[in-house]
Amino acid sequence: MRAVDIIARKRDGAELTTEEINFFITAYTDGTIPDYQAAAWLMAAYIHGLNHRETVDLTMAMANSGERLDLSDILPVSVDKHSSGGVGDKTSLIVLPLVAACGVPVAKMSGRGLGYSGGTIDKLESIRGYKVELSPAEFREQARQYGIVLSGQSANLAPADGKLYALRDVTATVDCLPLIASSIMSKKIAAGADVVVLDVKVGLGAFMRHIEEASQLARLMVEIGTSVGQQVVALLSDMNQPLGYAVGNALEVTEAIECLHGGGPIDLREHCLVVAAHMLRLARKNQSDYAMSECLSEAAHQLDSGAAFEKFRVLVKAQGGDVSQIDDPTTLPQARIIETINARHSGYVEQLNALQVGAAAIDLGAGRERKGESIDHAVGLSVHKKVGDSITAGEPLFTLYANDEAKLARTIRRLDYTLVYSAVETAPLPAFYDTITAT
Ligand code: URA
Repeated sequence: MRAVDIIARKRDGAELTTEEINFFITAYTDGTIPDYQAAAWLMAAYIHGLNHRETVDLTMAMANSGERLDLSDILPVSVDKHSSGGVGDKTSLIVLPLVAACGVPVAKMSGRGLGYSGGTIDKLESIRGYKVELSPAEFREQARQYGIVLSGQSANLAPADGKLYALRDVTATVDCLPLIASSIMSKKIAAGADVVVLDVKVGLGAFMRHIEEASQLARLMVEIGTSVGQQVVALLSDMNQPLGYAVGNALEVTEAIECLHGGGPIDLREHCLVVAAHMLRLARKNQSDYAMSECLSEAAHQLDSGAAFEKFRVLVKAQGGDVSQIDDPTTLPQARIIETINARHSGYVEQLNALQVGAAAIDLGAGRERKGESIDHAVGLSVHKKVGDSITAGEPLFTLYANDEAKLARTIRRLDYTLVYSAVETAPLPAFYDTITAT
């Protein structure tokens, strides 16, 4: 088989065979196929698409391109969640200890932020000493001993996706449904997940701007997971505005801790309870049929009782983090300059552009434009108003946490365009738009 023939066939709109896809992915992973041929293939796939079978084949070829994690001797059911990426999305910090506190062990690998969307691993590194890189043996041992582990993505897991994703990023081939679906699901399959709750973000601050395309992506991922025996639920959740109020690493850890103590922003709490309840229900499906309402009230109880926070302490301690910082979040990294922007008019919030809020956090240094850049864990912003809220002139709209005057000035200019006022009452945004299950 020759790479050039496979590229030509996809260029001409042909359906590739399983053997061709396996050959291409294996040879690209081991370096036999160079980036320029893979880039040409990606563009052909982007333009002509991949059918369902090709997408499943691509997913499996990428899942099998490296190690596959098998925790079946440690965990009765391996439960995972995945967010397609958003602004202020600190869900994993809350949901993982919450599900573990309900007695369902969780072992998860998460990513770093890229561009305006934050990453769980960057947030956890706000905690002094928290070790994000674990060897496979350490990962397994922590899952066995504590029933909770949250580390960075192992480079040996679906390495083909790691290479292809970096290439897609620079060849304008990211926003392609079969490529996104196979990328996400290859990692979930390689990580050995039996149960996956997918949080597919939709809106101004998400990959998918429209409900129809988010729905198509969600369906495709549910079908891929189901075809390999996973139990998958996909939630379509709002990402027109940030989740919760805090955006920026240490600020988000602080807000997550408030939520783990039973407080925090109501939208964040509700979002986490729904994600956790789906994870619990699917994880226990084989024992007996738990209703969503039972799982929701159990999860709410574990948040309010402090049990979820206790599990978070166990996680931080097990991974070498300084627990005193989560007991007293004022000791997490703090910014030198705090500035509040007040409302110039009265009215109602019609739009709070999540993309612009995410970009404002990047302006301040909370995220990176390119992989590998260093970030400032202390900086970011809090939004004080969400869509549907009323505003009185003079009230605070944003609090900025900065360590650099020039960056602060740039961010203040950006925020001028981030919140759209309305003179008439506006409706709050829904938390979720749809739930997609295998039918
Ligand atoms: N997240 C991924 O892991 N892959 C994509 O292609 C898009 C979002």
